[in-house]
Amino acid sequence: MSAPMNGFRYIHKAIRHELDALEVLTDPRTENGPELSGLAERLSFLREVVKLHAAGEEEVLYPALDSRVPQVTRSYSLDHQFEESSFDTVAATLAGLQSAPQGAKPRELALQLHRQMIGLNATLSLHIWKEEEQLLPLLDEHFSVAEQGAMAGQIVGHIPPEMMQPQLPWMLVALTADEREDLLRTVMGTVPPEPFRALGARVKADLPRADWAELTKRLPELASV
Ligand SMILES: [Fe+2]
Repeated sequence: MSAPMNGFRYIHKAIRHELDALEVLTDPRTENGPELSGLAERLSFLREVVKLHAAGEEEVLYPALDSRVPQVTRSYSLDHQFEESSFDTVAATLAGLQSAPQGAKPRELALQLHRQMIGLNATLSLHIWKEEEQLLPLLDEHFSVAEQGAMAGQIVGHIPPEMMQPQLPWMLVALTADEREDLLRTVMGTVPPEPFRALGARVKADLPRADWAELTKRLPELASV
């Protein structure tokens, strides 16, 4: 797998990591039940990440693939539509729970939320798995590394800077030390020094201190942020 395609694997891994976490957090058997406002914030952030990622795929990746490998991406676009409506469903149930009267225990709604979150995790994980098993190898087969790099750059270009700031540390949390280093080296190679410094500062603020120390050992350039 070429370097540009690793970026796909990293964002996919981070999405799956957060889906797993939200599945656990919505489990009504946890003590006192889930904390709803934190849950709503994480769900809406994940939704935004997934939406931007899917938009990048539909505007860049899928048309490129369609031009060289016909009849492959249609079912993936349909998956994206289904994901959107699944997010709607989960968000509506969560809003219902949040507006339930104080002290009431809407157990049915809490169970429903958990079931819907399990469903969302399963469908999105399957979609991501298929992309990695089918689409990424096809890209590797039909596009040069330079072409893949250009596509990866265009897809990242879909992410507005104000989203990039929280998204980078959010992704790093899901990755191994080697993957973190690889991703940050790629980002460093594509983002101008000043914005990179701002991104680095956000990573430093959001990551546990020991993780940041490990990163600066591997990437001494980070020490100055
Ligand atoms: Fe996708």
